[in-house]
Amino acid sequence: MERLDKFLSDSGAGTRSQVKALLKSGRVAVDGVPERDGGRKILPGTQTVTLDDEILGGKRRMVVMLNKPAGYVTATEDRQKTVMELLPPHWQRLGLKPVGRLDKATEGLLLFTNDGELLHKLISPKKEVPKLYYAQHEGCAGEEDVQAFASGLTLADGTVCLPAVLEPLGPGESLITVCEGKYHQVRRMMASCGMPVSYLERRREGSLSLGNLPRGSARELTEEETAALEAPASERNGQNGQFDGNDSPNFLN
Ligand code: URA
Repeated sequence: MERLDKFLSDSGAGTRSQVKALLKSGRVAVDGVPERDGGRKILPGTQTVTLDDEILGGKRRMVVMLNKPAGYVTATEDRQKTVMELLPPHWQRLGLKPVGRLDKATEGLLLFTNDGELLHKLISPKKEVPKLYYAQHEGCAGEEDVQAFASGLTLADGTVCLPAVLEPLGPGESLITVCEGKYHQVRRMMASCGMPVSYLERRREGSLSLGNLPRGSARELTEEETAALEAPASERNGQNGQFDGNDSPNFLN
């Protein structure tokens, strides 16, 4: 049994005072019957709680995918527009945090979760979650660049990168797969090979791709998608579990 007001705030309905006001206004119902008493005990899972006819889920783990547009910074708070503003209001209060970061100008797949353990797992280079980027850049990537990426680049400031995959698509266009998330990593890797990036989009992360999620929209992952993300590297990156810069990583579908 749980208090209705606690269940409402755990579901992201609002702060304690906002929840009080919601209850007072009659917008909350238990099993279809409007309920104004926040102290009422309910049985989550057995009884259905709605806010404006939308079913609430209580406290639960959430993993969300956003198709980030350019112009938003990856932060929970900032003076500039943040990616948090792109999430529906009732998700914004569930303790979601961005998994890693995309630069303000970078578009594409950005995950959020309120599960600290999963967040840590996904950003750890040891877990080798491959991330695929599409880049438009100056110059034309050649075999030497492909080999340099595969061997692990050393950037101008001495930063050593893990082996990565560079797939030239044609003049000024490439796909890049990296398993870590260093500051401006893809842009710096490309620049170090004389190919500064003018446009960057993350298209895949582990087994996930953007699919037809519109730019600026977010959706919750399915249980299968979350389970695939949590799978050990050995199930994602081939037989020995190592991400090998000479091969394309095995993105599960
Ligand atoms: N690498 C970058 O340089 N920028 C991003 O936003 C992501 C990866």
